[in-house]
Amino acid sequence: MSRLPRAQEYLKTGFNAEAASAARFRALAARAEREGRPNVARRLRDLAAEKDALALVQYEAAEAIREPHEDLSATVAAAVAEERYENDALYPRMIREVDAETAGVLRGVVSRQQEHAQRLTALLDALASSPGDVSA
Ligand SMILES: [Fe+2]
Repeated sequence: MSRLPRAQEYLKTGFNAEAASAARFRALAARAEREGRPNVARRLRDLAAEKDALALVQYEAAEAIREPHEDLSATVAAAVAEERYENDALYPRMIREVDAETAGVLRGVVSRQQEHAQRLTALLDALASSPGDVSA
């Protein structure tokens, strides 16, 4: 049995862990900024950038062992599908099962995500009609 699927799974787990750490550190930095502690905020943002780098290393390692290599359009198409699943199924289910205040937060996420899905779809369309880079 090939060892690649497990390697990919672990790299994806590591990617998710480091990407979540980066987001968490940015949230803590924003809080420190609000509390008038700019140096704490700066150190946390520096650590967030380090976590981004660790996530990227693992993303690229996972991509490198994927066969066949997916092109950028396929990856963007998968991101569109992921956003739609989250907006149409995942978040609506969670919204139905939580208190009104939390539901309001999650509805705000869906609203922003719907715009993200539109932007990703526009990017996908632009990629389809352009062999190289898209227009700005
Ligand atoms: Fe999303």
